[in-house]
Order: sequence, then C-alpha cells, then structure tokens
Amino acid sequence: MHTKESYATTKIAKEDTSDSREKITKTKEGRLLEKIDDDCLLINQIKGDFNKKRTNESSENVTTKPEHHEVEDDEEEESWRKQSEYYKNIDSKSFRQYELACDRVKQFYEEQHEKQTVAYNIQARINFKTKVRAKMSVWEGLEKLNRLLDESDPDTELSQIDHALQTAQAIRKDNKPRWFQLVGLIHDLGKLLYFFDSRGQWDVVGDTFPVGCKFLKKIIFSESFKKNPDILNPLYNTKYGIYSKHCGLDKVMLSWGHDEYMYHVAKNSSTLPAEALAMIRYHSFYPWHHEGAYSYLMNDHDKEMFEAVRAFNVYDLYSKIDEKYDVEELKEYYKDLIDEYFPSKIIDF
Ligand SMILES: [Fe+2]
Ligand SMILES: [Fe+2]
Repeated sequence: MHTKESYATTKIAKEDTSDSREKITKTKEGRLLEKIDDDCLLINQIKGDFNKKRTNESSENVTTKPEHHEVEDDEEEESWRKQSEYYKNIDSKSFRQYELACDRVKQFYEEQHEKQTVAYNIQARINFKTKVRAKMSVWEGLEKLNRLLDESDPDTELSQIDHALQTAQAIRKDNKPRWFQLVGLIHDLGKLLYFFDSRGQWDVVGDTFPVGCKFLKKIIFSESFKKNPDILNPLYNTKYGIYSKHCGLDKVMLSWGHDEYMYHVAKNSSTLPAEALAMIRYHSFYPWHHEGAYSYLMNDHDKEMFEAVRAFNVYDLYSKIDEKYDVEELKEYYKDLIDEYFPSKIIDF
C-alpha cells in the first residue's frame, strides 16, 4: 500500500471586495488532490480484494511490505559519505555539456518542458497507483530495459544494462556499502516505464523539476518552458505555487519519470534505507542537487538526503566513460545483491 501523499497545499479563491474588484487570495486547501489519492487507494484495495477472492488465495500467501533498513552502523555510515577515491581526479567539466548537445537532446527537452504540466503529473500518478504493469524479478527488468537508448543523455550511447553495471561497479570499487551498490544497479530501472504506459521518452527520462510552481532558470534549456501552459496559470507560476515554504520535497510533485516511478517500486518492495530511496528518487533532479535551486522547498530531512543524492551522482555521471563490463561475469554477484534487499524476488512494477 502506498503512503498517502498530498501535493497541493493551497488554492486560489476569488473574493468580492468592497470596491467590487476581484482580489485573488490563497487559502490552505489540499483536500481535492488528497481525495483523488484516497479514491485511488480505495480502488486498489477493492481490486486487490476481488482478485484475492477470485483466485482463492489463502491468507498466508499475502505478502507484507518489507521493513526498510536504517543506516545505523557508524562505519557503514561513514563509508557512504566518504569522497570517491575512484573518481577523485576526474575532469567534471567534460560532462553534461548541453551547449554542445546534439539536436536529439535539445528536441527532447523542448517536448518535455512543454508537456510536463500539473494536470499531466496528477494523471500519471493516478495511472501508477491504479494498476500493476508487470510482475518480474529485478534482474529480468534490467534485461528488458536493455533495449532502450536514452534520448536525453548527452554523455552516453551505451545500453542501459551497461550503464547500470558501470555505476554499480564504480560504487563497489570504492568499497561503498552493498545497498549503495544496488542503487547503482537499479537507479535507472524505472525507465521500464517506456515499455508500459508512457507517452514517449519525455515522461520517462531527462532532468526532473517541480511542477506547480515557477520553472527556474537553473533548469536545463529553461527557455523551452514558454510553451508549457502552466506558466500562464496564476496558481502555478509563483515562487511557491501550490506549495509552501520548507514544506519538504515529499510534498512536491517532481516531473513524472523513471526516478519517481522507481522510488515507489523500491519503497514498496525493498528493504533499502532512506538514503538509497532518496538517491533513486532525486538522482535526475539536477536543478536541486547540482545547482542548489529550490532550497526553499526543503525540510530538515531533505537536507540529510541531499548529501546522499550528491554522493550517488558522482557515480551515475562519471562511470559513463568506464570500461564496458561482461554482463554474464557479474550476473551472479548482482543477483545475490538484489535478493538481499528485495525479499519477495518477483515484484510489482
Ligand atoms: Fe536516471
Ligand atoms: Fe543513470
């Protein structure tokens, strides 16, 4: 069962004033979206109950949601925070060169920035919560994903499984905890959305950014937001928009894509710690973890997670120039690692 989230905290109400001009005020209100969310959860529950009855599932077959590990061990905690030895001399300026990016990348962002609206994002979350797209193991998911080439990425033309293994292996070579290595392996697994119900690549890949508040210049190719209808909506085009100061990123709708999707899949099916889940959820939120934007939406928990996401980003980005690994050679190691954190093996995607 998903944790209930409410995204909107305010709405605009029109008030008549004594001089008969209309005045726009904001009042605390998140009930409409919460109601939609509640309805989705209810539909899921009814569907689940119906399926259980139909297949005469016995109660012992009902799986319970796994508990998430906490990173408590001092030594383990220190080891994920430590700077990467493996990439300490890398030239970071040669990555994310969007000025030199090919037309494929530019066109991708034009489309993404036009179509990632609040309305679309609410619908995408409803779609996600009202069905299960596939049931398979994490490794099967990685193999399926291997057919996708990410149109938004200027740094690599490699297949997705190569990128997954490069990221995981770089983390492993730096002697980081096993949960961190697993994040390297699965952080892009949410790109499976492309094979399910996405409308293209624009709602699967690319940098992410909040919708429902002003699009900042720190977002890559930010000029292409001029075609996004939300910039004309007074609810959405202010600094805080539908959110409030330091409301916490958990309440903010980031543009829908593989990060948010995989975060929910991992949260529901794995025992990965909060740092791992944040790495998955925010790894494409470059305006935040790379440019320092939107700090006014963060709460104290986000400040802790910020460090984890930045620690992960080094491996996601720089491993793209590493050697290509032999999938068959590494398969058993990573299948064991998956089983350690995904106890039910076959999971809901
Ligand atoms: Fe990604
Ligand atoms: Fe990645």
